[in-house]
Amino acid sequence: MKFAVLGTGIMGRGWITQCAMSGHDVHCYDANAQILASTIAGCEKLAATVAKKLKNEDQNFVNKVTDKIILHNEKGAFIDAAKGCDVFLEVIYEDLKLKCSVLADFLPQLPESVVFWSNSSSLDIDPMALAGGRPDRSIVTHGMNPVPLMPGVEVVPGAKTSAAMIEFTRQTLLGMNKAPFLAPNIPGFWVNRLLVPQMLDAVRLLEQGKITVEDGDTGLFTSLGHPQGTFKLHDFVTAPTMLRVALQMYQSSNDPRMYPPLTLMRMVKNGEYGASSGKGFYDWSDPRNPKARDMSQYVIGTAEDILEQL
Ligand SMILES: NC(=O)c1ccc[n+]([C@@H]2O[C@H](COP(=O)([O-])OP(=O)(O)OC[C@H]3O[C@@H](n4cnc5c(N)ncnc54)[C@H](O)[C@@H]3O)[C@@H](O)[C@H]2O)c1
Repeated sequence: MKFAVLGTGIMGRGWITQCAMSGHDVHCYDANAQILASTIAGCEKLAATVAKKLKNEDQNFVNKVTDKIILHNEKGAFIDAAKGCDVFLEVIYEDLKLKCSVLADFLPQLPESVVFWSNSSSLDIDPMALAGGRPDRSIVTHGMNPVPLMPGVEVVPGAKTSAAMIEFTRQTLLGMNKAPFLAPNIPGFWVNRLLVPQMLDAVRLLEQGKITVEDGDTGLFTSLGHPQGTFKLHDFVTAPTMLRVALQMYQSSNDPRMYPPLTLMRMVKNGEYGASSGKGFYDWSDPRNPKARDMSQYVIGTAEDILEQL
């Protein structure tokens, strides 16, 4: 099969590597030339990690993966290539207005036969499906990070997605060794509907001075068996993406628990994005041995603390 992937950031690279590993040709484009230029190197690194984790001893594994990846520097060339693809997968910022305007631009230029997948982690598929002009063949395929190592893919049909499209998506994902599961088209779907409020609560408790990064993550790791604590997960998701997801979920649900804590906004402003920028809740100077940071600069106290100081 042939895939067209729009957006080659953290999740785009995961999907590109996954598609290539599964033997599919992948055409890629990103509006940011620097990000696009670093895509092959990023996919090579990811493929090498996958080979190590899965104990794949094929010396040519990484080359076989990168051989399947075709980068396009020009939007027009990418659209031309996408015309001959089976699946168009968007992996751009979590912003409904942006996604809809980009889809309204790209998808009408493609033949009806090209199906549309979105890697959104929380947004309503219906406006995206309408914007792209193919509501019966539009669906969310929310992969987890890093895609080639995390089997789960949340499959979220819209109001008009056809049964044939759901089945095509399920079979295609199974063929890629993924574990698709159906989830509802509500803000955050299933996974983030449960996870995001918990992650935001953790940051709120941290900024109230109630918990540290180290104790918080140790507690979840040793008591609930989480493979990594909530703060480390934040660092992999990155602060800008968490902020976008929280704001979009707040806007669509009006649920105050989704409103992003001040610390998240401050971290984005300070460039403390997480693992990719070298600093988040952890110091990632040594990526193999991240160190929990002292986040006391972000503690704003509780309402009682603030009242006492007045
Ligand atoms: N980060 C995670 O852990 C995670 C997990 C699951 C799902 N997601 C979802 O995946 C999507 C992408 O998230 P990410 O973490 O990869 O973000 P990211 O910031 O790493 O990458 C997004 C990319 O989209 C590109 N882009 C933005 N507008 C564009 C446009 N108009 N045309 C072409 N490219 C454009 C950006 O240049 C950037 O490279 C979002 O919908 C997010 O909610 C993220």
